[in-house]
Amino acid sequence: MQHKAQVTQYKKREGVFSETELLEMEKEYCSFGDTVHYLEPPKIFDHCEGSFIYDADNTPYLDLQMWNSAVNFGYANPRINAAVERQLNKLPQVASQYLHREKIELAARLAQANEKRFGKKGRIHFNVGGSQAVEDSLKLIRNASNGKSLMFAFEGGYHGRTLGASAITSSYRYRRRYGHFGDRAQFIPFPYHFRSPKGMSKEEYGHHCVQQFERLFESEYNGVWDPKAGKAEYAAFYVEAIQGTGGYVIPPKNFFIELKKVLDRYGILLVVDEIQMGFYRTGKLWSIEHFGVQPDVLVFGKAITNGLNPLSGIWAREELINPEVFPPGSTHSTFASNPMGTAPALEMMKMLEEEDFEGMVMEKGAYFLAQLKDLQKRHPIMGDVDGLGMALRVEICGQDGFTPDKAMTDKLTEEAMKGDLDMGNGKRGGLVLDIGGYHKNVITLAPALTMTHAEIDLSVRLLEQIFKRVS
Ligand SMILES: Cc1ncc(COP(=O)(O)O)c(C=O)c1O
Repeated sequence: MQHKAQVTQYKKREGVFSETELLEMEKEYCSFGDTVHYLEPPKIFDHCEGSFIYDADNTPYLDLQMWNSAVNFGYANPRINAAVERQLNKLPQVASQYLHREKIELAARLAQANEKRFGKKGRIHFNVGGSQAVEDSLKLIRNASNGKSLMFAFEGGYHGRTLGASAITSSYRYRRRYGHFGDRAQFIPFPYHFRSPKGMSKEEYGHHCVQQFERLFESEYNGVWDPKAGKAEYAAFYVEAIQGTGGYVIPPKNFFIELKKVLDRYGILLVVDEIQMGFYRTGKLWSIEHFGVQPDVLVFGKAITNGLNPLSGIWAREELINPEVFPPGSTHSTFASNPMGTAPALEMMKMLEEEDFEGMVMEKGAYFLAQLKDLQKRHPIMGDVDGLGMALRVEICGQDGFTPDKAMTDKLTEEAMKGDLDMGNGKRGGLVLDIGGYHKNVITLAPALTMTHAEIDLSVRLLEQIFKRVS
């Protein structure tokens, strides 16, 4: 027994555990409560660069989902990594009750970017992960609305898995075991046109969804509005302009403009969750910019550090977040605005300001989408193919091109992960895919925004290989 422990210690120092040994240790010592065991057996990766992530055997996997859109600017992005190295050698640690240059400059750039886009002055409040920033936004909203704790959110919406964030996330699955710690949102249908009743155009369906929502305010008997006081029971509507986990569902252009008019009529704030679609995933800094409305609060995370040290935050317009109403200590986390996060984030913001990401992402996204639509002609199980910028969706269906086929979607992603696809250069490799959607039958593609055209061509060739294998 002692000998075994010594061998383990030695191997640990030398980093020579085999993959089988590591998986055995994982099984024994790691909680299964995270999402690792969605895939069996779980995959161990070793190193990464650009659009590729490699296992210990150096097998390349072309990543088409970049850590749920946290690594928008490619693995090991030299410019962003260099900022981390500089910070590591300068001020890698500082308690969050003190200031450092990078935090202030980053907040200023984000606030100025939003002022330019939304015409409103605002402030930034940092935290560590996306869910924590959502929690902060809930506090801010409750505070600004004199303690109202009820929110609207969308069916298919995802805002995280902390307790407050789970309460406004549509899946009951994330709440089932834990009871209610906060008020569950009222979930409103999102204009998911591919699965809408037949006979309506995308715009007509968007209009229909808004009308259905506004019906709630027609009479006090519909449960949300007191016409005598002129007050709604609900404080805010939490939205993802393009649903992420919901399957990269893109609403019609008129939808948010019409929805915002209703919200303004009844004094309900608009909170936009840009945690997955922000930082040029859709070709704009924020995905809501495609839809012609201004949020009251905006939540961001993930790609702000290109997936390095976590950082997240909220932007809110001045009236909601000024120090009078949101005083010191309103929220706090030890690692909020940590310098190993603010430094790469600041470098990323500089990069966005210097380079034409909008033009580049829209062009590459259109190039990718055209090839996917071409692939769809040969594979009818690709029921719906759509995209905005580099947020692309492939909905996997039966031969009728409509009935959701989760089993086939699982099969496709498992095939992609085997690592034995023909990469075309004499090498074998794999594809990293992710599944989302209301029926867990959507391959949600979030490739690196820095992906080359040749890598897009390769992605399509590899997708074709897995479609051929399963058919
Ligand atoms: C739209 C959206 N909101 C919130 C979150 C939660 O962020 P985190 O996982 O960093 O807590 C996510 C994560 O996937 C997300 O996609």
